[in-house]
Amino acid sequence: MKRFKEIIKGQRIVLKRNKPKIKIAKKIFETINTNRKHLRPWLEWEKNTLREEDSLKYLFNEEEKTKKREKIQYGIYLKNKYIGNIGIFDIDKINKSAEIGYWLSHEFTRNGYTTEALKLIEKELFYSLGLNRIQIKCDEKNIASSFVAKKCNYKFEGMLRQNNYSYHFKAFRNTLIFSKLKSDTKK
Ligand SMILES: CC(C)(COP(=O)(O)OP(=O)(O)OC[C@H]1O[C@@H](n2cnc3c(N)ncnc32)[C@H](O)[C@@H]1OP(=O)(O)O)[C@@H](O)C(=O)NCCC(=O)NCCS
Repeated sequence: MKRFKEIIKGQRIVLKRNKPKIKIAKKIFETINTNRKHLRPWLEWEKNTLREEDSLKYLFNEEEKTKKREKIQYGIYLKNKYIGNIGIFDIDKINKSAEIGYWLSHEFTRNGYTTEALKLIEKELFYSLGLNRIQIKCDEKNIASSFVAKKCNYKFEGMLRQNNYSYHFKAFRNTLIFSKLKSDTKK
């Protein structure tokens, strides 16, 4: 497997690898802190990110996993402003598969930025790092997330019934699974 890129440039956005630096932790924390209501229903880690140090600690933990090539997180930047995150995790070198997750600051949503980020990451995973399958999972009721997957032509594979207990909804929730294969990109 090739090395992860530090920077991936798109037409409107730039993806920069989240390094464990105070400056980056500050930007991430501030963005989470001003988007709590928007993130809370879908991302359980929001409630555990209470201080800037939590974001820095998270970045250090991620760095260890990135060194082992298990996962990698990129900040999504618009004109040098941090507006959200896209991450690749559960990288399986034997089965050549991985999962992608994303979130964006509410004020920048509905502009196609996540779609652009997903397409950039996908190209990198299939054509530079040689993966065969990418998966996206989201809560059954997360319309925005599932629409991003559908818009980018990910195939709906099925639903995991009540596999996730949500502290926000105080209920067991269903999870949708979407995927794309390298061969799908040639059709
Ligand atoms: C999910 C999320 C990242 C989408 O980001 P985004 O940048 O707004 O997505 P895009 O602008 O690329 O939208 C792609 C398509 O999804 C659809 N869409 C996005 N948000 C939607 C919403 N709230 N309701 C209905 N459709 C929506 C649109 O149809 C859009 O297509 P269009 O451009 O042709 O209209 C953002 O809503 C978010 O951060 N949500 C909270 C965190 C989260 O749920 N993360 C995913 C966890 S699995």
